[in-house]
Amino acid sequence: MKRFFVLLLAATVLACQTSRQEKVVGLMTDSAMVVSAHALASQVGTDIMKRGGNAIDAAIATHFALAVVFPAAGNIGGGGFMVIRMKDGSTTTLDFREKAPAAATTEMYLDKEGNVIPELSTQGHLASGVPGSVDGMAAAHKKYGTLPWKELVQPAIDLALGGFTLSEREAAWFNEMKEDLIKYNTVTPDFLIRDLWQAGDTIKWTELGHTLELIRDQGRAGFYEGITAEHLVAEMQRGKGLITLEDLKSYASVWRDPIIANYKEYKIISMPPSSSGGVCLVQLLKSVEPFPVKDWGFNTVKTIHLMTEAERRVYADRSIYLGDPDFYTAPIKQLIEDQYNDERMSTFDPTRATPSAEVKAGVIVGYESEETTHFSIVDPQGNAVAVTTTLNGWFGSHVVVPGAGFFLNNEMDDFSAKPGVPNMFGVVGAEANKIEPNKRMLSAMTPTILEKDGRLFMVVGSPGGSTIITSVFQVILNVVEHEMGMQEAVNAKRVHAQWLPDAIIPETGALSKKDSLTLVSLGHTITPRRSIGRVDAILVLPDGKLEAGADYSRGDDAAKGF
Ligand code: DON
Repeated sequence: MKRFFVLLLAATVLACQTSRQEKVVGLMTDSAMVVSAHALASQVGTDIMKRGGNAIDAAIATHFALAVVFPAAGNIGGGGFMVIRMKDGSTTTLDFREKAPAAATTEMYLDKEGNVIPELSTQGHLASGVPGSVDGMAAAHKKYGTLPWKELVQPAIDLALGGFTLSEREAAWFNEMKEDLIKYNTVTPDFLIRDLWQAGDTIKWTELGHTLELIRDQGRAGFYEGITAEHLVAEMQRGKGLITLEDLKSYASVWRDPIIANYKEYKIISMPPSSSGGVCLVQLLKSVEPFPVKDWGFNTVKTIHLMTEAERRVYADRSIYLGDPDFYTAPIKQLIEDQYNDERMSTFDPTRATPSAEVKAGVIVGYESEETTHFSIVDPQGNAVAVTTTLNGWFGSHVVVPGAGFFLNNEMDDFSAKPGVPNMFGVVGAEANKIEPNKRMLSAMTPTILEKDGRLFMVVGSPGGSTIITSVFQVILNVVEHEMGMQEAVNAKRVHAQWLPDAIIPETGALSKKDSLTLVSLGHTITPRRSIGRVDAILVLPDGKLEAGADYSRGDDAAKGF
């Protein structure tokens, strides 16, 4: 009976849709490009490269600009990951993920009976980890920057103090979060509250602009010490949060070796833990590599069935094996080996879905939404940077630091508050991702760079919680297997699946009615969703020109370059 309703739902919601988008071409440039969630931020990064800055300089400037013009996810109060490939082929990654405050405890979100207290890890002061973004930008600049730091922060200051206009989408977000702003702040951020924000309204962030001036003049100390740190800690004390001056002062981002693996003739360079992104992406690619995905075609029944079966196995592994590498040793080498993934796929049956309960017992994994941001950059020398950064939820914990004007993250929710109990997006974890003082919470962010024949080929990434990994996976397959251009690959409809819930989650329009029915007949459940991910990517074409894939149909994303 349940199957019948699912069938009906699939039939009605997915009717009359085509699975492959019309051929479109993204912005093409000769040598330099920024693709981000906001046109103004992409322009800031492009201008830096016009002035001679490299991709890392541009990334720093773009990051700070996003903290102003895309405050729902762009941030100085959050954290993220950066993957770098220099023109000489050398690669590295920077982990500027938030950390649990020193006073955090494994049981901090549990009541006396040991049950998770709703919202404690998602809203308000206790939800925040120690921010990593400003330290990350400073560390990246120290190692790779070529232009003076001040020049990289200044454009964001100009945007904050000069103001910028809201798009329709942005006005809607500000309207939607009004009540939360009033509820969760000890000092209501009046400048963010209007009866009704409308597209075209100008917003100025004076306090944020002044905080950015301190960061411009003092570097990381402008955030982690002095007035900004004092404002943050005072707000923590008023709101019973945990972050202390010592937590801020001692925060340090970490350079880590990338996850590197081959998929056919492509080299994948991606983020290691504390993000699960790189490991899971490689596992997914390895799992499908032996199958003729190209012949089976884009979003066909065979391809979707195969991807779903790979995804449920990989996400089951994720829930058990991955966590902060400084606290928990994950079997990474084994997880990304061909043999291991072949073995995992040995139970793949082309004629039937494997119930997730058969793959791994127990715990429930849900999915996450799009409240993060990714940008991709290539500079004229051929250096490439992929950055994904987040406050976690939309506008993070909803707490704006009074006097300093920035949103704080609610990243603590990415920890497993209790083994087997899902977080706000339904993700579970266990020992590897339990809360411990000064530990980084597990992420799904997947900033990734691809090489082909030793040359830069693609820069890619996405927001979307656990759907980040599958969005990046699909966009890569769209280009390398389904022969799409970059914009076409980004526009193409996505289909997500993970271990649990035991379901295929297609974007509306991703699957034809007939294919949906066939998948249901194989034993799959289908639960459509309006939108998945927000990929911003760059493809290097054979003649060296760049093609953008900006996710303008799912957000306000835009490419700029020259
Ligand atoms: O790090 C992570 O995986 C999540 N905090 C990312 C969150 C995200 O993409 C937005 N919303 N779910």
